[in-house]
Amino acid sequence: MKSLVPPGVYAPQEDTALLAGALLEEPVPRGADVLDVGTGSGALAVAAARRGSRVTAVDVSWRAVCATRLNALRAGVPVRVRHGNLFDPVRGRMFDLILANPPYVPAPAGRGLPRGPARAWDAGDDGRLVLDRICREAPALLRPGGVLLLVQSALSDPELTLGGLRTAGMKAAVTRRRRIAFGPVLRDREPWLRQRGLLPAAENEEELVVVRAELPV
Ligand SMILES: C[S@@+](CC[C@H](N)C(=O)[O-])C[C@H]1O[C@@H](n2cnc3c(N)ncnc32)[C@H](O)[C@@H]1O
Repeated sequence: MKSLVPPGVYAPQEDTALLAGALLEEPVPRGADVLDVGTGSGALAVAAARRGSRVTAVDVSWRAVCATRLNALRAGVPVRVRHGNLFDPVRGRMFDLILANPPYVPAPAGRGLPRGPARAWDAGDDGRLVLDRICREAPALLRPGGVLLLVQSALSDPELTLGGLRTAGMKAAVTRRRRIAFGPVLRDREPWLRQRGLLPAAENEEELVVVRAELPV
């Protein structure tokens, strides 16, 4: 059954599909505690719940929270959905798996803090506004042996993600890559990205990567 995506909520796209593929490959035991942070329409949360995981989904957008509640109901799976900023609603809880498709598109500084639907993709001058917080804060929410699966663009420096997670004691690697055509946001921002040196002159596609990081047992 296709997810309902109300206006203003991020419709599942190539990044969602890339992360969903990584989730399918992950050996998650039934009953595992899974967190989907930045859940949008809840596509990944519902996919995890269908595999028998106990899923909590968080989003800063009330519309996304409502959409995820509705989509979980329609799919007939239990998903605990919380409104809030990143990990704030789940402080004190521990997870076996964290899924994250956060905002990761570099945005000109003049735009200020991301607002409205752009909160789903805009992530500051270097695209790392939320990624850096995930690298710093996610490891403390994982049980020993726990895994973080995260998708981002090559434009927002996956090496920094790997470095941050390794510094936090995790074993981290890029496990999936997919090249895609520029969407409307990148097409609109292309001259600025090139001027800023984030997009080489010869590059006409965006590369998405999945980072998998595991905490030692
Ligand atoms: C790229 S969308 C991904 C949606 C969905 N997980 C998917 O893969 O289709 C990013 C989502 O993160 C949410 N988000 C952005 N900043 C957030 C924050 N600080 N805390 C929680 N959610 C946030 C946005 O509202 C949006 O729903």
